[in-house]
Amino acid sequence: MAGYVVVGTQWGDEGKGKIIDVLGHKADYVVRFQGGNNAGHTVVVNGEKFILHLLPSGMLHGKGKCIIGPGVVVDPKVLLKEIATLEEKGAKVDHLFISDRAHLIMPYHVQLDILKEEKSGANKIGTTKRGIGPCYADKFSRVGIRAVDLLDMNIFGEKLQRNLEEKNELFAKIYNAPEMSYEEIFEEYKGYAEKLKHRIIDSVPEINEALDQDKFVLFEGAQAMMLDINYGTYPYVTSSSPTSGGVTTGVGVSPRKIDRVIGVMKAYTTRVGEGPFVTELNDDLGEKIRQIGGEFGATTGRPRRCGWLDLVVGKYAVQINGLTDVVITKIDVLSGLDTIKICTGYDIEGKVYTTVPASTELVAKAKPIYEELPGWTEDITQMKNYDELPENCKKYIKRMEEILGCQITVVSVGPDRTQNIFLK
Ligand code: GTP
Repeated sequence: MAGYVVVGTQWGDEGKGKIIDVLGHKADYVVRFQGGNNAGHTVVVNGEKFILHLLPSGMLHGKGKCIIGPGVVVDPKVLLKEIATLEEKGAKVDHLFISDRAHLIMPYHVQLDILKEEKSGANKIGTTKRGIGPCYADKFSRVGIRAVDLLDMNIFGEKLQRNLEEKNELFAKIYNAPEMSYEEIFEEYKGYAEKLKHRIIDSVPEINEALDQDKFVLFEGAQAMMLDINYGTYPYVTSSSPTSGGVTTGVGVSPRKIDRVIGVMKAYTTRVGEGPFVTELNDDLGEKIRQIGGEFGATTGRPRRCGWLDLVVGKYAVQINGLTDVVITKIDVLSGLDTIKICTGYDIEGKVYTTVPASTELVAKAKPIYEELPGWTEDITQMKNYDELPENCKKYIKRMEEILGCQITVVSVGPDRTQNIFLK
């Protein structure tokens, strides 16, 4: 056992939360490496549903340490609320730690996110308006405030002062919005510092030593491949790297310490927010998949756009992440369809593409090239072995594996921890 990474291979909401939860009971550490409370992992334990936005999904096992890594952006208000919710439900929370290098989401980041999206009109990105993008922008502009600053409120105060002067000018001049009060923010964050300081640690040596000692460290991705800041459908992307490369920069470990990269892939495609989506079904079938699959955002409740499985995207995810394993989820949702389609290429103005072009404008013009496979009618949600699956379901899985060129090791047939079929 050593370093395992779990990443999303599409536009998020693939069911990473469940898979991390399944692997999490064996983990000595579960570590988040990017993103913030724009994630929305849903984990079902004994029929009870938990939605975690910022806390690692491995939290619910109460075993191993859970670490919010250096590459994550943390809204302390949300963090404390999630900790309190878990405590109320009787879950253990003393195994949670936050990297001192993680950046803090400030109230002005949230405000800026809201104002920017409103002002952008038709060009909006479709963000969750939780301040994630503005917080990362400050990080890369080298003016961010980090968790370590909560350990010395004098340093925190100086940095807040400098940032707020600039942000208030922006609010007044560009957005015609009210200014924010230094005193109010300072007092609010002083309270958070008191409540969080015992959880703020230098995670770099600890995680590296754990890997050197062959402990099982699970790196938990949020969002997914097509939302990656470098490789996604830019600019309709998130502000971090949800691909496996994000682990090395977001946690401070060498790629040499990563043993397996597990890509979670939904048996069809969904997307929240704006941006091109080649296999989108804007018809009754799309609506049927949305209803059966419960495709409504865990964070915002927004209906997710639904479509067929896009393996141009799938192959891109295998390549960029260096996947060693693929886990297929929600295949049960496809039961009862006469035929099922897999997209194997894009036709863009008469030219065939088998990889995702950089130009979002070109992708928006793509027509999907489909392979059609026969469907199945059986309810597969209680099946435990591969042999029990209907022949046509097995054919779908095998064809996916062939096109992807990567082994499929688990097929998830329902939301519960126990509804999995292990292939290898
Ligand atoms: P993000 O980090 O926001 O991308 O979230 P995520 O990848 O963890 O996905 P999320 O938990 O938001 O969405 C997956 C949904 O599908 C949840 O409601 C899960 O309970 C559910 N789910 C997971 N696996 C399966 C499955 O195999 N079948 C069915 N029917 N539901 C599943």
